[in-house]
Amino acid sequence: MIAARDGIIVYAGPRADAPTGLIAAESIDCDGRWITPGLIDCHTHLVYGGTRAEEFELRLAGASYEEIARRGGGIVSTVKATRAAGEDDLVSAAQRRLDALLAEGATTIKIKSGYGLELATERRQLRAARRLAQVNPVTVRTTFLGAHALPPERTGDSPAYIADVCEMIPVLAAEGLVDAVDAFCETIAFSVDETAQVFSCARRHNLPVKLHADQLSTLGGAALAARFGALSADHLEYADEDGVAAMARAGTVAVVLPGAYYFLRERQAPPVELMRRHGVPIALATDSNPGSSPLTSLLLTMNMGATLFRLTVEECLAAVTREAARALGLSDETGSLDAGKRCDLAIWDVERPAELVYRIGFNPLHARVWRGQT
Ligand code: NIG
Ligand code: FE
Repeated sequence: MIAARDGIIVYAGPRADAPTGLIAAESIDCDGRWITPGLIDCHTHLVYGGTRAEEFELRLAGASYEEIARRGGGIVSTVKATRAAGEDDLVSAAQRRLDALLAEGATTIKIKSGYGLELATERRQLRAARRLAQVNPVTVRTTFLGAHALPPERTGDSPAYIADVCEMIPVLAAEGLVDAVDAFCETIAFSVDETAQVFSCARRHNLPVKLHADQLSTLGGAALAARFGALSADHLEYADEDGVAAMARAGTVAVVLPGAYYFLRERQAPPVELMRRHGVPIALATDSNPGSSPLTSLLLTMNMGATLFRLTVEECLAAVTREAARALGLSDETGSLDAGKRCDLAIWDVERPAELVYRIGFNPLHARVWRGQT
């Protein structure tokens, strides 16, 4: 039994042990169903213009993700479409993707910018993310990902663009649009030094950091994230043991993203066994984005986490609840069924929790509760 007052859990446990005197103004009979914390998607790029279906066809014909990026496609093609879209267009396109996540019991979502690469469009993306939170029963956390790619107008001049990013941070933060700062540290994006400059700037403005790290090559992104006390380092296919050990010491969560691994047909899975051995908490997320992971299902993400990355059922469930909350710095607020946390719940028509991870393309959600409200 779970009891909540003003959207906060006051008791979770066996009915027989519940404190006496709880009188519910409203109650939901779950009829023997399973209840989990509301699911948390701790890494999405939900707000963007256009699609990249054409690029998908190019990749099917043999082009690689990196080749397409180097030819000026990839992230930069979504940047063009996003710059051309108005705020209302961004909100309505993202709403459809958000609907898919909510229909599977998501109650908290991280949304990153990074398809503007200039102030006005980055702002529009972040404002769209805030608007989604105003009109949907969901908690949205935003991340400024200005250092996602080099914008076309700065070709060949990443120092100038890194300076632009460092100028955007205080402006957008002052507008209340930034809950964290992220960067893409990769051969096709920004170096360790450039990323460190962005992180130093974030730190000066008291913003937590996260990192797209070691996705396509071993650059030392995991260690860099740890050095800055990042909430999370994400992707991590090519992270090495030093990086994983540094994350463990820093308490940085590993967010693994099987959707991108699957969709880019990667061969090297993230070093899950090393993460376990060093005690690094593991979260799973959709990475929902038009280029490397057009995925809007946390249930399928869990299935991929188990099948492709060999996570256990228990690890998968923790990865989209407790550990995902930790990756967002929200451990005190959501992600587990404990008194004092928000009453964010998913109620499932399953006989055992393993069914949530085992099925593919089937949605057993019975009901969803966000901050105590159905
Ligand atoms: O998380 N890794 C960098 N960014 C995205 C991909 C963005 C894109 O291709 O549009 C990701 O995988
Ligand atoms: Fe991403």
